[in-house]
Amino acid sequence: MRHEFPVTKTTMPKDKPDTDTLAFGNRFTDHMFLMDYNQERGWHNGRIVPYAPICLDPAASVFHYAQEMFEGLKAYKTSSGNVQLFRPEKNEERAKRTCERICIPTLPDGLMVEAVKALVDVERDWIPDKPNTSLYIRPFIIATEPFLGVRDAYNYMFIVILSPVGPYYKEGLLPTRIYVEDEYVRSVKGGTGEVKIGGNYAVGLRSEKKAHEKGYAQVLWLDGIERRFVEEIGTSNAFFVIDGEVVTAPLTGTILPGITRDSVMTLLRSWGVNVSERRLSIEDLYEAHREGRLSEVFASGTAAVISPVGELCWGDKQMIINEKRIGTLSQKLYDELTGIQYGRIEDRFGWITEIE
Ligand code: COI
Repeated sequence: MRHEFPVTKTTMPKDKPDTDTLAFGNRFTDHMFLMDYNQERGWHNGRIVPYAPICLDPAASVFHYAQEMFEGLKAYKTSSGNVQLFRPEKNEERAKRTCERICIPTLPDGLMVEAVKALVDVERDWIPDKPNTSLYIRPFIIATEPFLGVRDAYNYMFIVILSPVGPYYKEGLLPTRIYVEDEYVRSVKGGTGEVKIGGNYAVGLRSEKKAHEKGYAQVLWLDGIERRFVEEIGTSNAFFVIDGEVVTAPLTGTILPGITRDSVMTLLRSWGVNVSERRLSIEDLYEAHREGRLSEVFASGTAAVISPVGELCWGDKQMIINEKRIGTLSQKLYDELTGIQYGRIEDRFGWITEIE
């Protein structure tokens, strides 16, 4: 079913940011998408309106019990001026699983992608076209019902906002320093680590802050039970290249099933590289490093794209990876992924959705 969304244009367009100095997520475009949910009408009243603060009751349950989910994807401008999305249907599928996990009524099939396309179409001029810049798209749903009892809410709002962005890490493609977190954990099986909710990120802040204070860009999470097996790097999936095998944590309920993670594995396999989704302990990782068998570590994510790791700190042990230079596979993956996203390389996997 195709949905039509009325558009109310802003009368006060903002100045566009300088695309040479774009950071991540601190500028927002002129419009946003809003849609409401109530029990009588379900999801209704999808509309594009001028970007502005929203008014919520202080008792809205999102403020108290964190019934909130989000997604993240990007729009890219090609050299011929076309606008492309990368695998948006995967965001929609994951959003559905997230909604189900925290009892948010799911959106009608196809609606999230249609809302994103409609809003990006209105904001075409905001898509930066300098290398490594894009328009970050943040769809999210919040529980808006004013109610302090603990149950799933009766009212929600679906919102999409857009932000022209540069690199997520200030290091860009320079290898980052990562701190192995052995005090706090991000998730356990049966919890919410495999879905995309704000709460997962709130519980990570303390560790991230600790890492920053020690001079590291992010943390490498270990599993929540044995505190031994490597899971994710900050807000991204993690990959380790050992003896030519690319290893990443399996999807057993604690890891976010990243769309970039899946794309990375597909690309690697198409090149004949051996990829394993298997548990890898920090002890084995350290051993592989000591024996010179760990050649690359990188993080993958929509925001981070491919972010090479140059150093891992685990307690009093330090691992310098590939002499702090970006590895061959990381560079090749970055070039291939961004090549497809920006339309420089043929889309042989059918990953691109054009916005006409
Ligand atoms: C993404 O990569 O899109 C994310 O959601 C990570 C983050 C900025 C929270």
